Amino acid sequence: MRLDETELVRWGNHIGQAIKAPAFIGLSGELGAGKSVLARAIGTGAGVAAPMPSPSYTLVHRYPAAAGRTLVHIDLYRINSPDDLWELGWSQLADTDEIVLVEWPARAGFLLPEDRWLIELACPVGLPGMRDVEVRRIGSPPELAEFSMVPLDQ
Ligand SMILES: Nc1ncnc2c1ncn2[C@@H]1O[C@H](COP(=O)(O)OP(=O)(O)OP(=O)(O)O)[C@@H](O)[C@H]1O
Ligand SMILES: [Mg+2]
Repeated sequence: MRLDETELVRWGNHIGQAIKAPAFIGLSGELGAGKSVLARAIGTGAGVAAPMPSPSYTLVHRYPAAAGRTLVHIDLYRINSPDDLWELGWSQLADTDEIVLVEWPARAGFLLPEDRWLIELACPVGLPGMRDVEVRRIGSPPELAEFSMVPLDQ
């Protein structure tokens, strides 16, 4: 599907409201594709009240969210190998009440969890305000809100 920023944010809000923890969502796409915009929208929907600055340097940010959930926002752009993940507490991620959003998930390689969503964002040529979005389900992650189910009046 092809979404403008308002639509992408509305969808992200809906994902955050609806998704049950534990959940792992990889967000991929080139620099500036909108991974952080979508992560913030999911966070807002999940009830994160704090601003969500980019975790580009700090790698992992955690936020309390609604319904006893914790939102974990990770950016793996700067890691050199999956081995670097152990220092981030990777093995405990998405164990219990966490919604884990990971930018550049391919950097985690074989350490990605079996059950996950992958949302891929791409910039169509000549349409600067639009993004092509593909959603892939890998294994058996909890249900993800579909864009077609997002209420229009939100
Ligand atoms: N349809 C759209 N959806 C999302 N963002 C859009 C859209 N159209 C334009 N934009 C703009 O694209 C930019 C996306 O920036 P963002 O920081 O989310 O990218 P990113 O994928 O996280 O990049 P990085 O790899 O550097 O972390 C924002 O400036 C946003 O306003
Ligand atoms: Mg980003």
